[in-house]
Amino acid sequence: VATQLKYKVKDIALADWGRKEITLAEAEMPGLMALREKYGQIKPLKGARIAGCLHMTIQTAVLIETLKELGADVTWSSCNIFSTQDHAAAAIAAAGIPVFAWKGMSEEEYEWCVEQTLYAFEGGKGLNMILDDGGDLTNMVLDKFPELVQDLGGISEETTTGVHRLYERVAKGTLPVPAINVNDSVTKSKFDNKYGCKESLVDAIRRATDIMMAGKVAVVAGYGDVGKGSAASLRGAGCRVIVSEIDPICALQAAMDGFEVKKMINAIPRADIVVTATGNCRIIGPEHFRLMRDKTIVCNIGHFDNEIDVAWLNEAYGHTKDTIKPQVDLYNIDGKDILLLAEGRLVNLGCATGHPSFVMSNSFTNQVLAQLELFTKGEKYENKVYMLPKELDEEVARLHLAKIGVELEELTTEQADYIGVEKQGPFKPEYYRY
Ligand code: NAI
Repeated sequence: VATQLKYKVKDIALADWGRKEITLAEAEMPGLMALREKYGQIKPLKGARIAGCLHMTIQTAVLIETLKELGADVTWSSCNIFSTQDHAAAAIAAAGIPVFAWKGMSEEEYEWCVEQTLYAFEGGKGLNMILDDGGDLTNMVLDKFPELVQDLGGISEETTTGVHRLYERVAKGTLPVPAINVNDSVTKSKFDNKYGCKESLVDAIRRATDIMMAGKVAVVAGYGDVGKGSAASLRGAGCRVIVSEIDPICALQAAMDGFEVKKMINAIPRADIVVTATGNCRIIGPEHFRLMRDKTIVCNIGHFDNEIDVAWLNEAYGHTKDTIKPQVDLYNIDGKDILLLAEGRLVNLGCATGHPSFVMSNSFTNQVLAQLELFTKGEKYENKVYMLPKELDEEVARLHLAKIGVELEELTTEQADYIGVEKQGPFKPEYYRY
């Protein structure tokens, strides 16, 4: 019996447009293309049934097709209700890959989509590998479909928040398989979280509001990797940026990078734009909303929508909500207008198209290496969270140099001996922080 084409996307007619953009993106994703070149013949992922739950964008389409090219059977859902690019999803569906994703789904539809990916493999088989972004798929499988754990070879996790959830599982003894923390590869968090947000945050605010950025006062909560990129993005657009932090090290970094550092409660009355980037909850609550100026733009670039207390906003002022366009809502709080973007969900994927391909190639090259490692050498690992070795991290970076014309110095034997490293690397000790 021929396997039935299984997918649910917004409009399959968008597939041609999606395919053209995927082809353009491939040229910007040298890391993934190098893996296709290296492993395309050997197909080391043959037998892998990878369910992925990660923003269904054009860049992710290149990741999915790389996993396919390496031999894997793949199914996909998006890890956020607003982050799908419908033409990307259509192109993946048209390529015969089960994908369940469209922009602007409900929470219930989201759960349904993730669930569809568990058993959508050839012959109705269940997944044996998880590729996750934020941990929702992982939680669904481990908590609700324990029968899948027996065949499960491992989990690779994309983001800070999902990695945090994995380490919690290790502490509680509820991680039944090995996992790889992709986020903390240097070539992921120090690039995607930082340089990615540097490009995609202002892009999102502009597409959503068309506001003049130069001269505005922007407040960024959190000065981790995402906060650093976000603050740089806003400064680059000419905003005057204030940062809030709880960590004295990050607060000092922000100050010495030239930003004002204030408590949110003191910064908020001056803000034209507020961005949360903490991965923490209730950063913006009623006490902050009440102090905002008329027409303040409020958005979140962290993984979950609880950084801004949208539940309270809807409860107390939902009756004033006026949708300007999808993902841009106006509320009126006691006479003052507030613009909430992407309903408080990650704004760069809700109001723009996420990070550009080149930086995602770095992240996704790590993802593919993690899947390869767990699928082909899984027995080496205990049920813990691991990081990829530094050799591979350096290799990911190396694969991206030629595209942007970088010339790399080579160590002489004398120099290598002098600083105590091998000529071909790794070039830094594990404790080095970049
Ligand atoms: P991080 O841990 O490097 O940074 C978070 C920072 O927030 C830390 O410095 C922490 O001290 C600070 N913080 C915590 N509570 C705070 C509070 N109450 N007030 C002020 N600051 C506070 O994490 P990272 O990598 O920057 O990620 C942040 C979030 O963004 C996570 O949820 C992550 O999953 C997500 N993310 C989003 C991306 C996107 O494209 N939208 C890309 C990568 C990560």
